[in-house]
Amino acid sequence: GWSMAGVDHDTSARSGYLNVSVRPSHRSRGIGTTLLERALAHLEDSSRIQTDSGEVGRSFAERHGFRHTHTRRVSGVDPRTVDTSELDSTPTQIVSLREAGPEQVFAVDAESVLDQPSDDAIDALEYEQWLHDYWEYPDLDLDVARAAVVDGQAVAITFVTLDHDSHRALNSYTGTLRAYRGRGLARLTKLSVVRRLAELNVALVLTENDETNAPMLAINDRLGYRPIESHYSYMLDR
Ligand SMILES: CC(C)(COP(=O)(O)OP(=O)(O)OC[C@H]1O[C@@H](n2cnc3c(N)ncnc32)[C@H](O)[C@@H]1OP(=O)(O)O)[C@@H](O)C(=O)NCCC(=O)NCCS
Repeated sequence: GWSMAGVDHDTSARSGYLNVSVRPSHRSRGIGTTLLERALAHLEDSSRIQTDSGEVGRSFAERHGFRHTHTRRVSGVDPRTVDTSELDSTPTQIVSLREAGPEQVFAVDAESVLDQPSDDAIDALEYEQWLHDYWEYPDLDLDVARAAVVDGQAVAITFVTLDHDSHRALNSYTGTLRAYRGRGLARLTKLSVVRRLAELNVALVLTENDETNAPMLAINDRLGYRPIESHYSYMLDR
């Protein structure tokens, strides 16, 4: 098994976070509890600690005092089955994130993420750190990820990580500047990603959304994403 712990410097709340995993063959021997205690000790200065769980980890988290805060829907679609013909007639300019460049993408990310449902607002993104954590993240594919451009400025973005060997991808974040919402721009960026993934013969693209995020779920439903499982957020206050 393993555990990890850290402090979320993207939020002004600077909550701690941790995760614990134990191989199924070695569960119910106290290994998880020992790993959790080590992680909690590492976070002794944190008064709020966040963790994520699948179905099997829920009772473990609850037994150790974590309270359930959010449920997220994991859904997926085979990009090769999606009708992307709308892209051929839209006047909206869609470019890769590499073409949009880091400064414009950061501007959209930093504003839009304030409205993403989460335990603590992601309100402390700093450009240099963001470059390191997100833009230079090794699995982010800047040529597949997309931005919608209006009047020469990126206004909607969508991030994609890609595993060529398994023919799978993760559409990990989508955001639109507040002033440009409700015009179909997020949907078009995601549709453009889906088209590119189909060209790359990707067989499954996954995404994960808070169950209260109605606009994002509406976009994904319309693109053909279907629910696969749920992930759960937990918080420990101490
Ligand atoms: C989610 C978000 C990206 C949508 O951006 P957008 O450019 O406004 O999205 P679009 O215009 O392409 O589509 C929005 C869809 O949601 C629908 N919608 C909006 N509010 C809704 C609501 N309360 N209930 C149901 N559907 C809703 C719209 O009708 C539209 O669907 P339609 O095209 O079928 O009519 C934007 O709200 C945002 O940046 N939110 C904050 C960041 C976030 O939560 N990102 C998701 C994390 S993965």
